[in-house]
Amino acid sequence: MTDINISNITSSIAEFGFYNTTIDPTLDLFDSIEKLKKEKNAVILAHYYQDPDIQDIADYIGDSLGLSQQAKSTEADIILFAGVHFMAETAKILNPAKKVILPDLKAGCSLSDSAPPHLFKLFKEKHPDHLVITYINCSAEIKALSDIICTSSNARQIVESLPNDQKIIFAPDKNLGAYINKVTGRDMLLWNGSCMVHEIFSLEKLVKLKIKYPDAKVLAHPECQDDILQHADYIGSTTGILNYANKDNTTTFIVGTEPGILHQMQKQNPLKTFIPLPPNNNCACNNCPYMKLNTLEKIYLCLKYELPEIILNEDLITAARKPIERMLSISKNLGL
Ligand code: 13P
Ligand code: SF4
Repeated sequence: MTDINISNITSSIAEFGFYNTTIDPTLDLFDSIEKLKKEKNAVILAHYYQDPDIQDIADYIGDSLGLSQQAKSTEADIILFAGVHFMAETAKILNPAKKVILPDLKAGCSLSDSAPPHLFKLFKEKHPDHLVITYINCSAEIKALSDIICTSSNARQIVESLPNDQKIIFAPDKNLGAYINKVTGRDMLLWNGSCMVHEIFSLEKLVKLKIKYPDAKVLAHPECQDDILQHADYIGSTTGILNYANKDNTTTFIVGTEPGILHQMQKQNPLKTFIPLPPNNNCACNNCPYMKLNTLEKIYLCLKYELPEIILNEDLITAARKPIERMLSISKNLGL
């Protein structure tokens, strides 16, 4: 059982504003969440960037592609998304008959925020001959303005599925876009967005770690800047990074993505060493402040009251679903 932080509980109740109750501090949250899941036929989908306790109570843990596939196929009545807003929104778009709940509505994403729909619409209108491929880390409105969605695990294949001479706008992540341009030889037009976590990894600290651990392999997420990616032995999505660490014989890895992933890496490889790449500030690790807004207490309350719920307009759901379905069908054909 985890320690219960009363100040968190009070603040989450205040944020919801729908009820005034307190959590009994002796309550076993793990047990109570399990009971609520069964009682309500609810499923918990969690991203690898969630806290270890949350990953441990999840029914499925995955990257953005895996989570979308699970959200689409689940038989549960309620999907509790232990992740950020665009992920819960994607689940609602793919499975609108289900109730989708997110423990904290403030769990946003800097990358998603970097593409305001009204500005993106103007940008798109300036390039009418371009097809729009958009990274899943964006709002439903941006998805509705897109032709195909991609994630970090299928971006390359989605781009390569289009003819070489097809003009493409890639948004919102300029780092992922630049990486895909590099590996495919394309010249996609990039929107100037980035992730606040992956943008600030320190090249200097990476070089020092490589000197200290000369046998270590560097695993990096493609949301990182090119200076970091140039040092990587493997570049891929969170699932890709985990799979690589599971299969590779190396015993020490420097991990260039949000450190939440280390929980599964360590759990699945207890004899290997995983070192989180530090950011270029005084912090030792580089947590995503949005992902970390979710807590076990908020998950308990969210399941109990089925709030906050993701509600989307039907027209928006229809428009945003098309490019996501296109991504899922390309991924399925490619066996991803
Ligand atoms: P993946 O889930 O595709 O690895 O992307 C990581 C991420 O930044 C999610 O917000
Ligand atoms: Fe968004 Fe970056 Fe956090 Fe992922 S890690 S949710 S891209 S801010």
